[in-house]
Amino acid sequence: MLAIVWRMVLSNCSGIVAPAKRVAAQKENFRRLLRTVETLSDLGPEMTAERDFTQTAHTMLSALMHATSAREGVLFVFIEKPSMLTSVAAQGFALIPEPSVVPLLPRHVHALSSTQGAVLLAKTSADTFLSANGNVAPELFKCVAPLKVAGKLVGAVALGRRDGDSVYDEDGLQSLDLLCHYVALAVQNHALTQTLAQRVSENLRLMASLHGFYDNALEAFAAAIDVKHVNIHGHSLRVGRYAAAIGDAMGMDSNDVAALRSAGYLHDIGKVAVDKRLFGKPTSLDPEEFQEMADHTTVGHQIVTGVQFPWPRIPEIVRWHHERADGSGYPDGLLNDDVPMSVRIVGLADTFDAMTSLRPYREPISLGATLSEIVRITPQKFDPAAVHALLVQLRRDAVGSNRTPFLEGSAGHLGPSDIDHLAANLQHKVSSGRMFLT
Ligand SMILES: [Fe+2]
Repeated sequence: MLAIVWRMVLSNCSGIVAPAKRVAAQKENFRRLLRTVETLSDLGPEMTAERDFTQTAHTMLSALMHATSAREGVLFVFIEKPSMLTSVAAQGFALIPEPSVVPLLPRHVHALSSTQGAVLLAKTSADTFLSANGNVAPELFKCVAPLKVAGKLVGAVALGRRDGDSVYDEDGLQSLDLLCHYVALAVQNHALTQTLAQRVSENLRLMASLHGFYDNALEAFAAAIDVKHVNIHGHSLRVGRYAAAIGDAMGMDSNDVAALRSAGYLHDIGKVAVDKRLFGKPTSLDPEEFQEMADHTTVGHQIVTGVQFPWPRIPEIVRWHHERADGSGYPDGLLNDDVPMSVRIVGLADTFDAMTSLRPYREPISLGATLSEIVRITPQKFDPAAVHALLVQLRRDAVGSNRTPFLEGSAGHLGPSDIDHLAANLQHKVSSGRMFLT
């Protein structure tokens, strides 16, 4: 770059005594040199500013046109598949399509990639660099400058008529070349950012489909866990769905909701190691039997710890879903904040389904009685925010605003006012009767 600027300076200093015509030309050259340097200093902040690329492209094109006294110009980016130039900024033309598209044959790509700097286009030579198969006629352009980074074509600048319809001279083309190095970098940078954004979105799509795959596989697994104990048929599936719905009502993002659903499906996986006889026992379990049943948490934890799930919290949810805030749970007797929120949600969903379902030793508890009991033992046993979210989902069912009902048909329903009453009780308990101005 310095060599070009230096050459332009030298060409202006040669001949101290010069005819008037030559002096005028030198003045013009100096002006152009100053314009180029000025443009360069303006382009830097423009190109590094955090703004929309279309705006940057227009600024860059204005700068190029200003430095070369062009009245018309287009800034193209190069698309590789299929090969084409597509405009990102155009100025000065009376009528030009947006975007202007110039399809390129391999020979055009080769000519643009191998040419050294800007070239003048005559009617006969335009076809060497640009095809006429696009929506813009190559004859509109008087000169074209390829934009290249490390020898690779990334775009092109095509200029139309100049002020006063004069021809682009060598100095003008040199100024254009100089600026094009910087514009090429900006165009390349934009292309890389776009590719990156595209890859990220492709990965997200892939992840979503993987999550879908996991969801289906785990749903089938949940059904398999429940098959062992006929009396709690569908429990794991419902706990997964309830936990996800509670997380959703708490405003969790879709990834956390998917994790809750999967953790709910798998929370009782350790029960595969429990004696089948215990599930059907119509009386309460003796201490030894209770311990065997309680061990499903640690056995389940061992099973899922060896699996690489997309959600890292699944093992702790499986292990701790019987932990309670007051330390009365098992297997580790955790207290309060030691019980993570996702564990509290699955624990609540598990209890809610257990209470509202048939057991070998009792009939299902009604929805109203279940919720009253849950509110009664909150916050000692359950998380108030999770219980509130459960009430929110049930209220949506009551007023019919849930697209997919939270409860399956058999669980019964409550009216919105009953749920509001429960929510008010919950609020009263959590605030210990204190009033807060909101
Ligand atoms: Fe359990």
